[in-house]
Amino acid sequence: MAKAWSPDSWRSHPIKQQPTWPDPAELDRALKQIASFPPLVFAGEARSLQSGLAQVAAGNAFLLQAGDCAESFEDFSANNIREKLRVILQMAVVLTYSIGVPVVKVGRLAGQFAKPRSADFERIGDDEIPSFRGHIVNGEGASAAARVPQPERLVQAYHQSAATLNLVRAFTKGGFAALDRVHAWNQEFVASSPAGRRYDQLANEIDRALRFMRATGMDTESNANLREVDVWTSHEALLIDYEEALTRVDTTTGSWYDCSAHMLWIGERTRDLDGAHVEFLRGVGNPVGCKVGPSMTGEQVIDLCEALNPAQIPGRLTLISRMGADRVEECLPPLLRAVKDSGHPVVWTCDPMHGNTYTSASGRKTRHFDDVIREIEGFVRAHRAEGTWPGGIHVELTGEDVTECIGGADELSDADLDHRYETVCDPRLNGRQSLELAFRTAELIRTVAPAS
Ligand code: TRP
Ligand code: MN
Repeated sequence: MAKAWSPDSWRSHPIKQQPTWPDPAELDRALKQIASFPPLVFAGEARSLQSGLAQVAAGNAFLLQAGDCAESFEDFSANNIREKLRVILQMAVVLTYSIGVPVVKVGRLAGQFAKPRSADFERIGDDEIPSFRGHIVNGEGASAAARVPQPERLVQAYHQSAATLNLVRAFTKGGFAALDRVHAWNQEFVASSPAGRRYDQLANEIDRALRFMRATGMDTESNANLREVDVWTSHEALLIDYEEALTRVDTTTGSWYDCSAHMLWIGERTRDLDGAHVEFLRGVGNPVGCKVGPSMTGEQVIDLCEALNPAQIPGRLTLISRMGADRVEECLPPLLRAVKDSGHPVVWTCDPMHGNTYTSASGRKTRHFDDVIREIEGFVRAHRAEGTWPGGIHVELTGEDVTECIGGADELSDADLDHRYETVCDPRLNGRQSLELAFRTAELIRTVAPAS
């Protein structure tokens, strides 16, 4: 593929899942403004993440990608960001300690706003109103007025991303993430759950290990490895107008980077080979991901690897499998084989959420914790059978005590969903369910044996 690429070459390709902005001049003004703003991330950071992901591709590290389905303009506070980070750090510690390899931490945050929809319109009573596409586009209220796409929201999304990233950087480098604070991340409502108690035991072991290291004369206070973490940002690159406005030349390498986040991914609905999304992401230097659903064939997945990573750079491409618990062991193995035979170095990660969504008897969109675990189990089994590395998980969660997914040790039921159902889009695991998921995932990685 020697075809020329530029930040706007996607414009001559068919594009799906875009809002119909009522006033093109207003859209243009918003995009010009964003293009004049500073980048949110730097190319060198994207390259650091890519080297971490290269370790995952080689089977020497594990990827934890987690955060909201859709970030909200309303639910935007220090508290909300801290709680999300706290549960991500807890999960990361569990995975690092239990699997014994470095964990690459990537948030679905600081830019995860835009949502693809199954239909452009939604029927409310007798009216057809435009679908909600995330706060970067319109409001979720059930009225035609709320659903009008407003370009000013693109600018607001940029500012919210900047503020979120600022806090993430402060928390991860300013002492909050230091390993001698492992106990402090165990928020009250999580601590009282079985997973929370198990976590406290693991934290005790880490405390002992740190004391041992200090006793040997090691200076644990000043060692940055023990005090700081990298939590990288990512989102679905859906609104390519917005992504283009933040795409800049890196002066050290002369390459283009999409500076809206460290990592970007393409959704299951927009991964057409000739489509605008693949065209755009093939040209940026960031690590990129692509969702891979049950309809994907071995041939298609190779074409995708060729389009997005023709130079076969390790860490550049992450394939995010989302098959559904019932289908993963049937659909994934042929793809694992095809990719392995092609020699493409990819990160394989498991999104156990999006293939397991259903509408509960009470009419809520939900997911069952057992299905989520079953999909991870099928994913790990499939990899073990093929001799490939089950490189990570990609999950939708919040640190809050919400009731959006059914099951888990608390056995949340359909009747509990109304209690705290707060998501603006898909149902998320709460803090307790997330921590339980980390323990169960680590167990699966440890106990499902590789084929001999
Ligand atoms: N810096 C190491 C890492 O990121 C160790 C570490 C420090 C850590 N704080 C952490 C790991 C919090 C997980 C969570 O792996
Ligand atoms: Mn989602």
